[in-house]
Amino acid sequence: QIEELISEIKNLKASNAEEAEALRIKYLGRKGLIPALFDDFKNVPAENKKAVGMALNTLKNEAQRVITELKEAHEAGASSASGADLTLPGTSFPIGSRHPLSLVRNQIVEIFSRLGFSVAEGPEIEDDWHVFTALNFPLEHPARDMQDTFFITKDPDILLRTHTSSVQVRVMEKTQPPIRSIFPGRVFRNEAISARAHCIFHQVEGLYIDENVSFADLKQTLLYFAKEFFGENVEIRLRPSYFPFTEPSAEMDVSCSICGGKGCGVCKHTGWLEIMGCGMVDPNVLENCGIDSKKYTGFAFGMGIERIAMLKYQIKDIRLFFENDVRFLEQFKSAI
Ligand code: PHE
Repeated sequence: QIEELISEIKNLKASNAEEAEALRIKYLGRKGLIPALFDDFKNVPAENKKAVGMALNTLKNEAQRVITELKEAHEAGASSASGADLTLPGTSFPIGSRHPLSLVRNQIVEIFSRLGFSVAEGPEIEDDWHVFTALNFPLEHPARDMQDTFFITKDPDILLRTHTSSVQVRVMEKTQPPIRSIFPGRVFRNEAISARAHCIFHQVEGLYIDENVSFADLKQTLLYFAKEFFGENVEIRLRPSYFPFTEPSAEMDVSCSICGGKGCGVCKHTGWLEIMGCGMVDPNVLENCGIDSKKYTGFAFGMGIERIAMLKYQIKDIRLFFENDVRFLEQFKSAI
């Protein structure tokens, strides 16, 4: 009987790990066949005890070897099979997205670079000359007030720039015309933070200086920009305005993309959205920067990136740009 069991065990087969475990229970488990035979050993006549004992040990060893081998084969097989299952979805890693302000700035830079504008930058901590004086601000102009400007120390000459027009001055001081550049950057104004205003925001400034640059060039450049940015059907209008550093000055509006110029909640029922200030560079500014105002003329414009991003993506609160709430930022994953 023991011999028969040994040959039976040598031929055992299991097609998975569960079957191998069932065999272990059947032969080696606490109530299995082999422990039962060991229990019977006491009934074996004394003269046979030696032979039977040796056979039982062989049986037990054989059973343990065969069943362990079966189990190991299936355990190894199971894990390599799941590791190689190419139909399982891959592990995904969270990827970031560009900030909406970067998306809009990049698009503005790209449109003007197609017209031959290069990009330049200037310091955020500026002096009075580059932010105000060179730009023809009269000494008593309200923009110099503590109201609008952040000063860093008690020294009224050191301040955070309130507009990127300061970069115009730096570029004109260093370069003779022709100049055709845009200046994206961060600006600072001491304003109460609300849904519509923030003390930090971003602008893109543009400057074009050469011989015979006219207001028609300005208008055509801005029309091209508006169509590229907002779409072929957009219309623009220029309203007279005032800036100390441009003469004449204008404010540019685009027709509202939501109502198509007819008036809606977004454009406050006028059909028009104001997007930038612009004008012909004042001859005083050219002279302040060492450029011959008899020979050269030019135009400048400046727009707020937040405002344009709010119009483009219909964002109702400017503070969202600075909170870095991923639920807000994630919405721009698929944007260009
Ligand atoms: N610097 C102006 C502002 O901050 C915008 C502007 C730039 C206007 C260039 C005219 C020319 O609002």
